[in-house]
Amino acid sequence: MNILIIGGAGYIGSHVTREFLDNGHDCTVYDNLSSGLRENLFPQARFIHADIHDYPLLLETMKGGFNAVIHLAAYKAAGESMLKPEKYSHNNIAGTINILNAASEAGIKNIVFSSSAAVYGNPQYLPIDEKHPTLPENYYGFTKLEIERFLGWYEKLKGINYASLRYFNAAGYDVKGRIKGLKQNPANLIPIIMETARGVRKEMQIFGNDYDTPDGTCIRGYVHVSDLSAGHVLALDYISKNNKSLTVNLGSEEGFSVLEVVDIARKVTGKPVPAKTAERRKGDPSKLYDSSSLALEILGWKARYSDMETILKTSWEAYKK
Ligand code: UFG
Repeated sequence: MNILIIGGAGYIGSHVTREFLDNGHDCTVYDNLSSGLRENLFPQARFIHADIHDYPLLLETMKGGFNAVIHLAAYKAAGESMLKPEKYSHNNIAGTINILNAASEAGIKNIVFSSSAAVYGNPQYLPIDEKHPTLPENYYGFTKLEIERFLGWYEKLKGINYASLRYFNAAGYDVKGRIKGLKQNPANLIPIIMETARGVRKEMQIFGNDYDTPDGTCIRGYVHVSDLSAGHVLALDYISKNNKSLTVNLGSEEGFSVLEVVDIARKVTGKPVPAKTAERRKGDPSKLYDSSSLALEILGWKARYSDMETILKTSWEAYKK
């Protein structure tokens, strides 16, 4: 298929692009490089350096005969979204409206969207399945939920099939070591641990140790980015062949506390990773981990690389250089 990957130079986007290329698809990456990196681009994929807010260019691009759009262009730091909601409204919500309008004007029939476990908020039960109520705890999660609702309406009114993939915490690096770009100023736990292990940071902070969890730190389900990428290929195949939409969790069905992740990272890297307890970060649910049995049932998807050791080993391979 001919696929337009918006946000394809980013951390998840580059892994997803690699996976579509490996599966024989024609790929065009559309990215403004605000957080994506040139070194994440592949020679086999065409690259358009542009912004989703440039509607005329977005539309002209979409008229290039694409069968599908993969939409990964969003800000994703839950903590930051509580301090700068405007930034998240503009990029995540207004930017997506442009993408949906351009796709519908260009007659594109399939969209795979990077949604998030952040749509659920604090769990009413665990593991979280897709029937769990959606009450986001942070503004970022709210933007993802709004976009899911837009997708529902564009499906009804414009006949666009969508796959909304609710990622749990994406982590790790390409198991074959083909992706080299490291996120600048990361906000996520595992890149911060890696920077601390490398000595780029003297020490890291653990946000809160008084949550309602066995060791008091937040529990998350992590999913390897190579597993997520495989999920995109399967999801596009499903929605395009069946002419129908889909909302599924993608996770490893296992939760780790912040302290557990730091501990395993110390073993994997052989580095001390100094960490001190700090205040809670606003908007953090205490526990978030998934049931991904619906993805297995519908797509035949199952995490293969998402055990914490593999996530941390592949991350360390990328960071230690
Ligand atoms: N944390 C620390 N110290 C840090 C960074 C994070 O203790 O320096 C803690 C956080 O407080 C949280 C946990 O580590 O308890 C994980 O935090 P991340 O920032 O890595 O990830 P989030 O769970 O906030 O969110 C991530 C992505 C979102 C995605 C969500 C899905 O950033 O885009 O996972 O579950 F939606």
